[in-house]
Amino acid sequence: MFNFGVDYYPEQWPSDRWAIDARLMAEAGFNVVRLAEFAWAKMEPSNGHFDFSWLDEAISVLSAHDIHVILGTPTASPPAWLMAQYPDAFRVRGDGVRVTYGNRREYCPNNPAYQEHSRRIVEAMADHYASHSAIIGWQIDNEFGERCYCPVCLKAFQDWLGQRYDSLDSLNDKWGTTFWSHNYANWSEIPSPATTGHSPNPALALDYYRFCSDSYVAYQQIQIDILRDKCPQHFITHNLMGFGYDKINYFDLVQNLDFVSWDNYRRMQWTFQTHVDPARAALDADTMRGLKGKNFWVMEQQAGSGGWEVVSVAPRPGELRLWAYQSIAHGADGILFFRWRTARYGTEQYWHGLLDHDATPGRRYQEIKQMGAELKAIGDKILGSTVKPPVAMLLSYDSRFAFEVQANNPDLHYSNYFYQIYRGLHDLNVSVDVIAPTDDLSAYKLVVAPLLHIVTPQIAANLESFVKNGGTLLTGLRSGVKDEDNAVVNTRLPGLLSSIVGIQVEEYDSLTPDMGRALQFVLPELEGCIGNAAVWCDILAPIQAETVAVYTSNYYAGKPAITQNRYGNGRAIYVGTVGDGNLYASLLPWLLHNSGVNEGFPALGLEITERWQGDKRLLFILNHTEMPQEIKLETLAMDLFNDLENDSNSLLIQPRDVRILEI
Ligand code: GLA
Ligand code: ZN
Repeated sequence: MFNFGVDYYPEQWPSDRWAIDARLMAEAGFNVVRLAEFAWAKMEPSNGHFDFSWLDEAISVLSAHDIHVILGTPTASPPAWLMAQYPDAFRVRGDGVRVTYGNRREYCPNNPAYQEHSRRIVEAMADHYASHSAIIGWQIDNEFGERCYCPVCLKAFQDWLGQRYDSLDSLNDKWGTTFWSHNYANWSEIPSPATTGHSPNPALALDYYRFCSDSYVAYQQIQIDILRDKCPQHFITHNLMGFGYDKINYFDLVQNLDFVSWDNYRRMQWTFQTHVDPARAALDADTMRGLKGKNFWVMEQQAGSGGWEVVSVAPRPGELRLWAYQSIAHGADGILFFRWRTARYGTEQYWHGLLDHDATPGRRYQEIKQMGAELKAIGDKILGSTVKPPVAMLLSYDSRFAFEVQANNPDLHYSNYFYQIYRGLHDLNVSVDVIAPTDDLSAYKLVVAPLLHIVTPQIAANLESFVKNGGTLLTGLRSGVKDEDNAVVNTRLPGLLSSIVGIQVEEYDSLTPDMGRALQFVLPELEGCIGNAAVWCDILAPIQAETVAVYTSNYYAGKPAITQNRYGNGRAIYVGTVGDGNLYASLLPWLLHNSGVNEGFPALGLEITERWQGDKRLLFILNHTEMPQEIKLETLAMDLFNDLENDSNSLLIQPRDVRILEI
């Protein structure tokens, strides 16, 4: 049974409505709900007094319709009595302001009293629900995030540094504290990077960001330990925020979870725009799948217009279903829509659910009900099937944090640059895993390492053996610049990557927007290709590599900008400039061809992905445009929605529609 459902807040509605809701949910084909993740005050109305009676009742109403339950631990949103008792538990922002009560995520993850109360509510829930037959799993907290700069965190940071470094001497050495006489004689002298007036030591800042990330990992572990102990038969997950969220090392965060869940919104108040870019959602999904190298759930799939202060453009007819199928196409084994009914009160009054404020089941409900019926028929064929991309992109949170500390150029953005290359692959319908630089690369033909700023010997060795064994590596500017402690390496750039890419960076130039000029491709296979230099130019001195393209302007006109190095059985391409979309439209087909990756279906306007169920191939064809699109198939295929063999060779996909073919 494909996991299909909705996020439900029974505590926000009169209990005599619950039975109607449950019936409508069942009619929509829903078999799972997430409950309770913001209901701490209802479950513990006063200190130490627990009340689960209302939740028991809601669960029994839902169970009567065979709907399973995922319980959210409620720690993202504490009750007012708790925070009133522990004013120190409020998070301090980077600007020094201690937040007050009245939103959510207001807590400090290192605060001992907050941790103790979190433990208590999770234990109480786990004791109460451990053997309840409707419960299948847990979501811990909600969307971990937000750095804290409070005194408790500063002390915890100093202790964290004590664990990380062998001695204070070693820290002083690695951080280079002789610069500006920052030598520390005592751990307690080490400051928070938020209060230094101006730019702190980059090593200090990077470590603080790592520490903040570790703080959430550790806070989450407190809850995992309780749930593993008391509810060993239940799964544990957390709802993450896709590729875009950059303040927590998600690889670390998911390590002890059973699977990754995430929240997928395409039209939001803060992205107020007409067009939705399907490549963005694809990147989010591929990142979430890559974190554990396995299928994920979407715990919150958009159900209506987003909106806090501003209401987003309404999802057009067909979009909600299309986006939900897109999640499935990229590896979802569960989809829950956020949320069931639009709240009448509170910050998210305008964050629309499947039902409007007045509970009328309208267009959006009907659209998802159709999907529910479809999944009832074909969900089992999809469930558990896997995505097997030939290409990996390496996501380095260390490097991303380091660029947050020092941008290098005002227009150099880790996530934008990463997306630019991802987008080029997505346009060609080439499937991508987003994984960590230390992950096993042997399953891939092409590995892209964008802005791999921080390179450890372990990462360099991983890339080296990948290339030696025949893989193709694409990397480039600002890679290999820093060591693990955010110090610039003591060799020619790109440092530990030099021998693999067969070049040295002779010099570099950080460009203003008006300084970018065309590149000239000199490699015969790429003659006529176009692309511009932009943002940054590494001026390359090939040691072994051949030149692919040269700059045409500035004092380095004629000097190499892009190179290719044959190394072992593989090759490594170095792109010294950010470039533009044209550059990757030129480079990627060539790279894919050379690395032995079959280009995906070249189908403009259609996104096409594959999942494998044993040796059966499931082809998801998604039309993200407002025009019908046609695709030519080279083989016979079973159209799962119609249960028909498609032998016409050509398939017409209606606007915002989906087809799933079994080959
Ligand atoms: C996030 C949260 C939800 C809700 C939605 C919409 O994803 O997890 O609780 O706030 O955003 O804003
Ligand atoms: Zn704190």
